[in-house]
Amino acid sequence: MRITEFELERYFARWEFAVRHVLCASDVEGWSMGELLALADDESAELWKDLRLGYTEAPGHPLLRREIAALYETADAPDVLVLSGAEEGIFVLVNVLLEAGDHAIVTWPGYQSLYEVARACGADVTLHELREADGWAIDVDALRRQVTPRTRLIVINAPHNPTGMLPDRATFDAIVAIAAEAGAYLLVDEVYRYLEFDEADRLPAGVDAGRHVISLGVMSKSFAMAGLRIGWLASRDRELLARVAAFKDYTTICASAPSEILALIGLRARGVILDRSQTLVAQNMVALDALFARWPNTLSWVRPRGGSIGFPRMREDLDIDRFSAELVESEGVLLLPGTRFGHPGNHFRIGFGRTDLPAAVAGLEQHLGRVAR
Ligand SMILES: Cc1ncc(COP(=O)(O)O)c(C=O)c1O
Repeated sequence: MRITEFELERYFARWEFAVRHVLCASDVEGWSMGELLALADDESAELWKDLRLGYTEAPGHPLLRREIAALYETADAPDVLVLSGAEEGIFVLVNVLLEAGDHAIVTWPGYQSLYEVARACGADVTLHELREADGWAIDVDALRRQVTPRTRLIVINAPHNPTGMLPDRATFDAIVAIAAEAGAYLLVDEVYRYLEFDEADRLPAGVDAGRHVISLGVMSKSFAMAGLRIGWLASRDRELLARVAAFKDYTTICASAPSEILALIGLRARGVILDRSQTLVAQNMVALDALFARWPNTLSWVRPRGGSIGFPRMREDLDIDRFSAELVESEGVLLLPGTRFGHPGNHFRIGFGRTDLPAAVAGLEQHLGRVAR
């Protein structure tokens, strides 16, 4: 397989651990081991203490699969396959579903692997462009027109990376119906689920929306444990999951034993875990609203409706690539230019899941004060 480089990940590989403040991270500030273990119930504390570091069950620890299934209304443990990050979920699922001659529709701008893996499998990929002028919304009529007799997969991501867009319920239902009419699978990348700013906006999970809909979840974002590298696919199409599981024999075989137990602890304590993430994001949004209010002629955005990231636009005369390069040099603050998404609009991704956001914003404003007055 030949695959185009993952622009965003190459950028992070260069900068993430070389700067003072990552103001474009998509994860929520990670839990410490001590704090997480303090949340363990008796059973999972035992499992942690007695854990043997052998191979694990290929589809995932039975208790972990059961706990993940409990996130959904219609899924049982056999409808869940544990993977090493959402990234592995995308890779294995798309490899199983698509081959040369197939057609896929994927929203764009977006997380690159959601369309790049499909291309590498030989599929024709139609990008469904989200536009700032439309509030980054998915255009269901345009989506319907993009379907062809060869369309086998439609991919959406909500809340969305990088814009924070969240479709309304009617739009979501229409997309589910379009995929069903097309005889296609719908992959719903839900890694930012539970970070809706208004809980009433939370969409039904994909797996609960139909047998042709697949949910992609992960511990990295709303559950604030990216270092576990634990993700999952949930689907009531067990034959499909079996094929994905067989493909996984060629990637990781099974998940990390310690990570599975830590994920189990985290999911069992999800009330506390999600509350911390939601509170942190809400606090950071207050700081960002104030930032945008102080720089009305320089920074603008479609305010996200969920997730831990947004996609603001920088004033036209301040080239975002140059601005970001100078910012990291002068203040050690990292932004992610929209060009890394192949997007031409002078946008950048900003992340608001980290505790150092106030210090990072102070650095950003120092630099703005120098170049944007
Ligand atoms: C939309 C989306 N999907 C999938 C992933 C992959 O998640 P992970 O790195 O935890 O595997 C990310 C990570 O940024 C993402 O933003």
